Amino acid sequence: METQGLKGWFISLEGGEGTGKSTQIAVLAEALSAQGLSVVVTREPGGSPKADLIRSLILDDRMVGLNSMAELMLYEASRAQHIAETIRPALESGKIVLCDRFADSSIVYQGGARGLGLKLVDEANRIATQGLEPDLTLFFDLDPLVGLERIGSRGVIDHMERERLEFHTMVYEGYKRLAQENLVRIKSIDASKTREEISEDILKIVLKKIKD
Ligand code: TMP
Repeated sequence: METQGLKGWFISLEGGEGTGKSTQIAVLAEALSAQGLSVVVTREPGGSPKADLIRSLILDDRMVGLNSMAELMLYEASRAQHIAETIRPALESGKIVLCDRFADSSIVYQGGARGLGLKLVDEANRIATQGLEPDLTLFFDLDPLVGLERIGSRGVIDHMERERLEFHTMVYEGYKRLAQENLVRIKSIDASKTREEISEDILKIVLKKIKD
């Protein structure tokens, strides 16, 4: 069970807006807990008290139009703090960490869609994470138009979610490319299925990973 010198399992969930990650992370946590496994659910940006302060700064409406490099640095600052405060301690004590977004989000959003470049963001990720990578990443594969429609019907949207469809399409294409390039770590989930089917698919993949 040991990975990267740590006892636990680090699993990230990635995908565009409205793909159902938050719903599924809760279902997965409950299913794993029911099997007697110790689970920590967390998210980025944020995921610890101090990182959450950085999150509220990033998502503040007054930050619209923030310089892309400054934005990347805030995500990386949040990530470094999140790892120190939440992820690493949980992995060291053998827990399963389920993380809603991680470094792949920076690659796809800041590196691809915001145009900072994949190499630069990869390097920034490496500095912030000190090489910590998820053991498994679940990519929620859903047409961005469907995702945006789902968000629209939820009522409350933040400025990131209001970005034009073109941006979300770039995000989607970015994830698809990343998934193709990392076939071992990243597993694609057909997020157009029903909630129950998606939950089943995810649980199968996760149990296979942690029981193998
Ligand atoms: P959320 O919608 O999952 O709460 O995420 C908040 C927004 O932050 C979402 O639009 C994606 C964005 N994001 C990045 O642009 N880069 C990152 O590194 C992370 C973690 C999130």
